[in-house]
Amino acid sequence: MSYRYLGNKTKLAEWIVDSIATVVSPGAAVADPMCGTAAVALALAKRGYSVHASDSLTFPVIHATVRLLAKEEPEFDAFGGYGRALSILNSLPSVEGYFYREFGASGNPANGRRPRKYFSAENAGRIDAIRRFVASAHERGNISDLEHAVLLQNLLLAVNEVANIAGTYGYFRSEIGSNAKKKLKLVPLDFVNTIGNHVVTKGDIAQVAPNLHVDAVYLDPPYTKRQYAGNYHILETIAREDNPEAMGDGGLRPWQEDASPFCYKRTAGKFLRSIIASLDTSNVFVSYSDDGQIGPEKLKSILSEFGSVSIGEHEYNRYRSNGGAKAGRIYEKLYHLHMEQR
Ligand SMILES: C[S@@+](CC[C@H](N)C(=O)[O-])C[C@H]1O[C@@H](n2cnc3c(N)ncnc32)[C@H](O)[C@@H]1O
Repeated sequence: MSYRYLGNKTKLAEWIVDSIATVVSPGAAVADPMCGTAAVALALAKRGYSVHASDSLTFPVIHATVRLLAKEEPEFDAFGGYGRALSILNSLPSVEGYFYREFGASGNPANGRRPRKYFSAENAGRIDAIRRFVASAHERGNISDLEHAVLLQNLLLAVNEVANIAGTYGYFRSEIGSNAKKKLKLVPLDFVNTIGNHVVTKGDIAQVAPNLHVDAVYLDPPYTKRQYAGNYHILETIAREDNPEAMGDGGLRPWQEDASPFCYKRTAGKFLRSIIASLDTSNVFVSYSDDGQIGPEKLKSILSEFGSVSIGEHEYNRYRSNGGAKAGRIYEKLYHLHMEQR
């Protein structure tokens, strides 16, 4: 099951944790307040750190909740076990609901636009059926909050496997491709029993940062102009369990409220400076690419306002949603800021 996420650090997570471990020993508390897939949060947890993960969007919070807090397979008593719950969901017949109408190949969008081919008609209807079942089981108290998060995580990951997209959910492919023709299938997740006391919250970093009580903070902000809220609107809708207006040809949910200042050249540097100024911690690590909205010199100068800065570099193969001219090997940087006594 894949995460298909811009800036996903799965392949860099061990290197990032190795770097953090040179200054903060396992057992300490580390925050990952822009956690995305929670790949780094999980890698930290596996090494024995207590992790506070957070994000402004809802689906990364589901990822983090399940990867950090579901330490073993939940009971799913109401269904006779986790495996049984998944087989019930996998056998639900397709229904013609919101996803079928707005995001399915045979849909009929409410705003009169052409059918949006994010999913085959069959898979879109099965997503509707699963969403209804999960929401209703939760509302009735048949599943706990954690079991609810587990099923949403199952659905998010299954949807990524059959989405008819070129990388992000910013738009759909014109013809249903071979992956999208496969039947959507929820498969059992792995649960990792880590020793730390983890915390997962949802919120904008501007509100979360001043309330972090940790030994180190790992910041992985967006570095391009691509807004996560728009590019992953379908995952956000699944996680929020709502049926928002689907706007324009692409059917994006209204996302302006969730726009990130990190995605604009004009605001990225200023915002980062204000976040760091509000942190009460000795060590800040920042992942940032050389071709981001904040240039490398500027970033180093912002960080240097707060203490001493060292930079680690790692060559890697960049994930680009559609291949694209800039795909290929580049250097990812990890800045370590040792904060002056505050
Ligand atoms: C580069 S991704 C993080 C990737 C993550 N480290 C991973 O391995 O998957 C950036 C994340 O920052 C989040 N984000 C952007 N602006 C934010 C803000 N103002 N407050 C909190 N999270 C924000 C996005 O939703 C996105 O999940």
